[in-house]
Amino acid sequence: MARPDSYMLDVGRDAADRLTLLNQIYGPFTRAFLSDCGLRPGMTVLDVGCGTGPVAAWIATQVAPDGHVVGVDVSEEQLGVARQHAAERGLANVTFRVLSAEALGAVGEQFDLVYSRFLLVHLERPELALREMLACVKPGGVLASDEQELAAACCVPDSGAFSRSVDLVYQLARAKNLNFDYGSSTFGTFRALGCQDVSLRVVQPALTTMQTKRLWPQFFVEARASIVDSGLVSAAELDDIIDGIEAIAADDDYAILAMRNHQVSGRRPVPGGPRP
Ligand SMILES: C[S@@+](CC[C@H](N)C(=O)[O-])C[C@H]1O[C@@H](n2cnc3c(N)ncnc32)[C@H](O)[C@@H]1O
Repeated sequence: MARPDSYMLDVGRDAADRLTLLNQIYGPFTRAFLSDCGLRPGMTVLDVGCGTGPVAAWIATQVAPDGHVVGVDVSEEQLGVARQHAAERGLANVTFRVLSAEALGAVGEQFDLVYSRFLLVHLERPELALREMLACVKPGGVLASDEQELAAACCVPDSGAFSRSVDLVYQLARAKNLNFDYGSSTFGTFRALGCQDVSLRVVQPALTTMQTKRLWPQFFVEARASIVDSGLVSAAELDDIIDGIEAIAADDDYAILAMRNHQVSGRRPVPGGPRP
C-alpha cells in the first residue's frame, strides 16, 4: 500500500531513527499507560499505525508466552523495519500486516486490547479509525489511544524561532485537512462511541538534552518535501526555520516541552451488560 497523501513524514529506514527517538522520549509513559490498561501475559493486542514497531515489540514481551500482538500500518516500508527488529530480538509472537486504520475489518480477529499512538493526527477521519478500532475489541476488552495535542508544545524560555515553527506546522495541518491537536478530542470521542469506564490522563515530556530536542527539527527535515510542495514557505524560508530550531536544540539554555499526549482508555460494552 502506498503512503497516503496525508502522511507527510518519511517511512522505512529513513523514518526509523526519528521513531526510535520518539519512543525513547514517550516509551516510559506508553509502557506505564498500557500496564495500567491491564496489559498482562496471555493477552491479544492490536497496535494500529504501529510504524517501525517499537511499541508492538515491547507488548510482545509482556503478553508472552501465550499472548500475541498484531501490528498494522499502511506502509509496507515501516513494517519491513518492524519485522526485521522483531526477528533480531527473537520475538515469535508478533506479526505485522499492511492494513489501513480506516478499514480494519480484514484483520479478521477481535483483541483484548487495541491501541494506537501518534496515528490519529495523521488521518483526515480519525473518528472513523477509532470506530474501526473499537470494532476490533472483544466485548469487555479495552480500547486505548495515546495521541498528541500540539497546542501544549512550547519552548522555555520563549523563542520566536520555535513559535514560527509551530505556526508552520498548523498551517501545514490545515492545508492537509489534519488536526494536530486531535489528542484533546479523544476523550469525547471515546464517550460518544459508547465506551465504558473512559479514563484520561495527560503526559508531556520535557526535552532538555540536545539529543532529545533534535526530535523537533527532525520533524521538519522529514516533512521538508511536503512543506515545500505545499507552497506555504519557500525552501530558503524553511531552512531558516530549521536553522533556528537546530540552534535551540544545541543551546543548553533552552528546553522544549514536547507535544502533550492524551492517554485515553475505555471498555467495549458487553451486549446485555450495564449501560455506560
Ligand atoms: C508518527 S508514526 C507513529 C508510529 C508508531 N505508532 C509509534 O508511536 O512509534 C505514524 C504511523 O501511522 C502510519 N499511518 C498513516 N496513515 C495510516 C493509516 N491510514 N492507516 C494505518 N497507518 C497509517 C504511518 O505509516 C506511520 O507509520
